[in-house]
Amino acid sequence: MKFIKANSYDELSRLAADIIAEQVKNKPDSILGLATGSSPLGTYANLIKDYEEGKLDFSSVTTVNLDEYVGLTGDNDQSYRYFMNTNLFSKINVPMDKTNVPNGCAEDLEKEGKRYDELIDSLGGIDIQLLGIGLDGHIGFNEPEDVFTGPTHAVTLDQSTIDANARFFESIDDVPRKAITMGMKAIMQAKKVLLIANGANKKEILEKSLYGPITPFVPASILQLHPDVTVIYSEN
Ligand code: F6R
Repeated sequence: MKFIKANSYDELSRLAADIIAEQVKNKPDSILGLATGSSPLGTYANLIKDYEEGKLDFSSVTTVNLDEYVGLTGDNDQSYRYFMNTNLFSKINVPMDKTNVPNGCAEDLEKEGKRYDELIDSLGGIDIQLLGIGLDGHIGFNEPEDVFTGPTHAVTLDQSTIDANARFFESIDDVPRKAITMGMKAIMQAKKVLLIANGANKKEILEKSLYGPITPFVPASILQLHPDVTVIYSEN
Protein backbone atom coordinates (compact mmCIF):
# COMPACT_ATOMS: atom_id res chain seq x y z
CA MET A 1 0.00 0.00 0.00
CA LYS A 2 1.22 3.46 -0.88
CA PHE A 3 0.26 6.18 1.60
CA ILE A 4 0.60 9.81 0.53
CA LYS A 5 0.06 12.63 2.99
CA ALA A 6 -1.03 15.76 1.17
CA ASN A 7 -0.75 19.20 2.73
CA SER A 8 -4.16 20.39 1.62
CA TYR A 9 -7.35 19.27 -0.05
CA ASP A 10 -6.17 21.03 -3.22
CA GLU A 11 -2.95 19.05 -3.25
CA LEU A 12 -4.82 15.79 -2.57
CA SER A 13 -7.17 16.56 -5.44
CA ARG A 14 -4.38 17.33 -7.88
CA LEU A 15 -2.45 14.19 -6.93
CA ALA A 16 -5.55 12.00 -7.26
CA ALA A 17 -6.45 13.54 -10.61
CA ASP A 18 -2.87 12.96 -11.83
CA ILE A 19 -3.15 9.26 -11.02
CA ILE A 20 -6.44 8.96 -12.93
CA ALA A 21 -5.08 11.08 -15.80
CA GLU A 22 -2.04 8.81 -16.05
CA GLN A 23 -4.36 5.80 -16.22
CA VAL A 24 -6.40 7.34 -19.04
CA LYS A 25 -3.28 8.39 -20.97
CA ASN A 26 -1.75 4.93 -20.69
CA LYS A 27 -4.99 3.16 -21.55
CA PRO A 28 -7.47 5.42 -23.33
CA ASP A 29 -10.25 2.81 -23.06
CA SER A 30 -9.84 2.48 -19.29
CA ILE A 31 -12.68 1.34 -17.08
CA LEU A 32 -12.84 3.95 -14.34
CA GLY A 33 -14.62 3.11 -11.09
CA LEU A 34 -15.94 6.38 -9.68
CA ALA A 35 -17.34 7.67 -6.40
CA THR A 36 -19.63 10.49 -5.29
CA GLY A 37 -19.58 12.56 -2.08
CA SER A 38 -17.47 15.60 -1.22
CA SER A 39 -14.06 13.93 -1.34
CA PRO A 40 -13.80 13.49 -5.14
CA LEU A 41 -15.15 16.93 -6.10
CA GLY A 42 -11.67 18.48 -6.31
CA THR A 43 -10.34 15.48 -8.22
CA TYR A 44 -13.15 15.83 -10.75
CA ALA A 45 -12.54 19.58 -11.04
CA ASN A 46 -8.91 18.87 -11.94
CA LEU A 47 -9.86 16.21 -14.49
CA ILE A 48 -12.28 18.69 -16.09
CA LYS A 49 -9.51 21.29 -16.21
CA ASP A 50 -7.13 18.80 -17.84
CA TYR A 51 -9.80 17.98 -20.40
CA GLU A 52 -10.52 21.66 -21.12
CA GLU A 53 -6.80 22.28 -21.61
CA GLY A 54 -6.67 19.47 -24.15
CA LYS A 55 -4.50 17.24 -21.97
CA LEU A 56 -7.03 14.46 -21.52
CA ASP A 57 -9.42 12.63 -23.79
CA PHE A 58 -12.22 10.59 -22.22
CA SER A 59 -13.86 9.56 -25.50
CA SER A 60 -12.92 5.89 -25.14
CA VAL A 61 -13.37 5.64 -21.37
CA THR A 62 -16.14 3.69 -19.64
CA THR A 63 -17.17 4.56 -16.09
CA VAL A 64 -18.87 2.50 -13.40
CA ASN A 65 -20.00 4.23 -10.25
CA LEU A 66 -20.04 2.67 -6.84
CA ASP A 67 -23.54 3.31 -5.65
CA GLU A 68 -26.95 4.95 -5.86
CA TYR A 69 -29.75 5.74 -3.46
CA VAL A 70 -32.78 3.49 -3.73
CA GLY A 71 -35.85 5.27 -5.04
CA LEU A 72 -34.15 8.31 -6.59
CA THR A 73 -34.34 8.68 -10.36
CA GLY A 74 -31.42 10.12 -12.29
CA ASP A 75 -33.15 13.47 -12.73
CA ASN A 76 -33.52 13.90 -8.96
CA ASP A 77 -30.81 16.36 -7.95
CA GLN A 78 -29.97 14.25 -4.88
CA SER A 79 -29.30 11.11 -6.91
CA TYR A 80 -25.76 10.00 -7.52
CA ARG A 81 -26.48 9.80 -11.26
CA TYR A 82 -27.37 13.50 -11.17
CA PHE A 83 -24.24 14.25 -9.10
CA MET A 84 -22.00 12.53 -11.63
CA ASN A 85 -23.69 14.13 -14.64
CA THR A 86 -23.37 17.58 -13.06
CA ASN A 87 -19.92 17.33 -11.52
CA LEU A 88 -18.11 15.36 -14.20
CA PHE A 89 -19.80 13.66 -17.12
CA SER A 90 -21.42 16.73 -18.71
CA LYS A 91 -18.11 18.59 -18.49
CA ILE A 92 -15.84 16.08 -20.22
CA ASN A 93 -16.16 14.09 -23.44
CA VAL A 94 -17.03 10.70 -22.00
CA PRO A 95 -19.95 9.30 -24.04
CA MET A 96 -22.99 9.33 -21.74
CA ASP A 97 -23.90 5.80 -22.80
CA LYS A 98 -20.57 4.61 -21.45
CA THR A 99 -21.28 5.99 -17.97
CA ASN A 100 -22.84 3.53 -15.56
CA VAL A 101 -24.48 4.01 -12.18
CA PRO A 102 -26.51 1.27 -10.47
CA ASN A 103 -30.23 1.80 -10.98
CA GLY A 104 -31.73 2.61 -7.58
CA CYS A 105 -35.21 2.52 -9.08
CA ALA A 106 -34.98 -1.02 -10.40
CA GLU A 107 -38.02 -3.05 -9.37
CA ASP A 108 -35.86 -6.01 -8.45
CA LEU A 109 -32.69 -4.76 -6.77
CA GLU A 110 -31.16 -8.21 -6.59
CA LYS A 111 -31.53 -8.57 -10.33
CA GLU A 112 -30.09 -5.08 -10.78
CA GLY A 113 -27.08 -6.06 -8.67
CA LYS A 114 -26.53 -9.10 -10.84
CA ARG A 115 -26.86 -7.01 -14.01
CA TYR A 116 -24.32 -4.50 -12.68
CA ASP A 117 -21.77 -7.17 -11.74
CA GLU A 118 -22.20 -8.86 -15.12
CA LEU A 119 -21.66 -5.53 -16.80
CA ILE A 120 -18.43 -4.96 -14.86
CA ASP A 121 -17.28 -8.50 -15.70
CA SER A 122 -18.12 -8.02 -19.38
CA LEU A 123 -15.94 -4.89 -19.40
CA GLY A 124 -13.05 -6.97 -18.05
CA GLY A 125 -13.22 -5.45 -14.57
CA ILE A 126 -12.27 -2.03 -13.29
CA ASP A 127 -8.85 -0.58 -14.09
CA ILE A 128 -8.82 1.94 -11.26
CA GLN A 129 -11.41 2.37 -8.53
CA LEU A 130 -11.65 5.72 -6.80
CA LEU A 131 -12.97 5.47 -3.23
CA GLY A 132 -13.89 7.80 -0.41
CA ILE A 133 -14.34 6.45 3.08
CA GLY A 134 -17.26 6.90 5.46
CA LEU A 135 -16.82 7.76 9.12
CA ASP A 136 -17.91 4.20 9.91
CA GLY A 137 -15.33 2.79 7.49
CA HIS A 138 -17.72 2.14 4.64
CA ILE A 139 -16.46 2.04 1.07
CA GLY A 140 -19.17 2.40 -1.52
CA PHE A 141 -22.13 1.86 0.75
CA ASN A 142 -20.72 -1.35 2.18
CA GLU A 143 -21.63 -0.63 5.78
CA PRO A 144 -20.11 -2.45 8.79
CA GLU A 145 -21.66 -5.88 9.19
CA ASP A 146 -20.58 -9.36 10.16
CA VAL A 147 -19.54 -10.46 6.68
CA PHE A 148 -17.95 -8.84 3.66
CA THR A 149 -20.56 -8.90 0.90
CA GLY A 150 -19.23 -9.70 -2.58
CA PRO A 151 -21.93 -8.86 -5.10
CA THR A 152 -23.56 -5.52 -5.86
CA HIS A 153 -26.43 -5.46 -3.39
CA ALA A 154 -29.06 -3.36 -1.64
CA VAL A 155 -28.17 -2.02 1.80
CA THR A 156 -29.84 -0.18 4.65
CA LEU A 157 -27.71 2.84 5.49
CA ASP A 158 -26.27 3.21 8.97
CA GLN A 159 -27.50 6.10 11.08
CA SER A 160 -24.00 7.65 10.99
CA THR A 161 -24.11 7.61 7.17
CA ILE A 162 -27.59 9.15 7.14
CA ASP A 163 -26.38 11.83 9.58
CA ALA A 164 -23.25 12.53 7.52
CA ASN A 165 -25.15 12.75 4.24
CA ALA A 166 -27.94 14.92 5.64
CA ARG A 167 -25.80 17.95 4.75
CA PHE A 168 -26.70 17.39 1.10
CA PHE A 169 -30.46 17.34 1.78
CA GLU A 170 -32.97 19.93 2.97
CA SER A 171 -33.85 17.83 5.98
CA ILE A 172 -32.49 14.61 7.46
CA ASP A 173 -35.88 13.01 6.80
CA ASP A 174 -35.23 13.39 3.08
CA VAL A 175 -32.10 11.21 3.17
CA PRO A 176 -32.97 7.84 1.60
CA ARG A 177 -32.58 4.94 4.02
CA LYS A 178 -31.55 2.46 1.39
CA ALA A 179 -28.97 2.30 -1.34
CA ILE A 180 -27.58 -0.12 -3.86
CA THR A 181 -23.82 -0.52 -3.80
CA MET A 182 -21.08 -2.30 -5.63
CA GLY A 183 -19.92 -5.07 -3.34
CA MET A 184 -16.43 -6.03 -2.27
CA LYS A 185 -15.88 -8.39 -5.21
CA ALA A 186 -15.76 -5.74 -7.95
CA ILE A 187 -13.85 -3.33 -5.68
CA MET A 188 -11.25 -5.93 -4.71
CA GLN A 189 -10.91 -7.12 -8.31
CA ALA A 190 -10.15 -3.60 -9.52
CA LYS A 191 -6.59 -3.56 -10.81
CA LYS A 192 -5.80 -0.43 -8.80
CA VAL A 193 -7.56 1.25 -5.90
CA LEU A 194 -7.21 4.95 -5.12
CA LEU A 195 -8.66 5.96 -1.77
CA ILE A 196 -8.91 9.63 -0.91
CA ALA A 197 -9.83 11.08 2.46
CA ASN A 198 -9.61 14.53 3.91
CA GLY A 199 -10.39 16.14 7.23
CA ALA A 200 -9.24 15.46 10.78
CA ASN A 201 -12.48 13.55 11.41
CA LYS A 202 -11.42 10.85 8.92
CA LYS A 203 -8.03 10.22 10.55
CA GLU A 204 -9.13 7.68 13.15
CA ILE A 205 -11.19 5.50 10.81
CA LEU A 206 -8.45 5.67 8.19
CA GLU A 207 -5.85 4.43 10.68
CA LYS A 208 -8.18 1.66 11.84
CA SER A 209 -8.86 0.65 8.24
CA LEU A 210 -5.28 0.64 7.06
CA TYR A 211 -3.44 -0.64 10.11
CA GLY A 212 -6.05 -2.35 12.30
CA PRO A 213 -7.47 -5.86 12.10
CA ILE A 214 -9.15 -6.86 8.84
CA THR A 215 -12.81 -7.16 9.74
CA PRO A 216 -16.16 -6.51 8.01
CA PHE A 217 -17.00 -4.28 10.97
CA VAL A 218 -14.45 -1.90 9.42
CA PRO A 219 -15.31 -2.47 5.75
CA ALA A 220 -12.35 -0.51 4.31
CA SER A 221 -9.95 -2.80 6.19
CA ILE A 222 -10.42 -5.34 3.37
CA LEU A 223 -8.22 -3.07 1.25
CA GLN A 224 -5.21 -4.30 3.24
CA LEU A 225 -5.58 -7.47 1.13
CA HIS A 226 -5.53 -5.60 -2.19
CA PRO A 227 -2.17 -5.65 -4.01
CA ASP A 228 -2.29 -2.11 -5.46
CA VAL A 229 -3.80 0.53 -3.20
CA THR A 230 -2.83 4.19 -3.05
CA VAL A 231 -4.21 6.24 -0.21
CA ILE A 232 -4.05 10.04 -0.27
CA TYR A 233 -4.92 11.79 2.94
CA SER A 234 -5.03 15.43 3.84
CA GLU A 235 -5.84 16.56 7.34
CA ASN A 236 -7.26 19.90 6.16
C1 F6R B 1 -19.89 7.62 -2.50
C2 F6R B 1 -19.49 6.54 -1.60
C3 F6R B 1 -19.20 6.77 -0.16
C4 F6R B 1 -18.38 8.02 0.11
C5 F6R B 1 -18.15 8.19 1.61
C6 F6R B 1 -17.39 9.46 1.92
O1 F6R B 1 -20.12 7.14 -3.80
O2 F6R B 1 -19.46 5.44 -2.05
O3 F6R B 1 -18.51 5.65 0.32
O4 F6R B 1 -17.16 7.94 -0.56
O5 F6R B 1 -19.39 8.24 2.27
O6 F6R B 1 -18.15 10.55 1.56
P1 F6R B 1 -17.57 12.03 1.57
O7 F6R B 1 -16.55 12.08 0.49
O8 F6R B 1 -18.75 12.91 1.26
O9 F6R B 1 -16.99 12.25 2.92
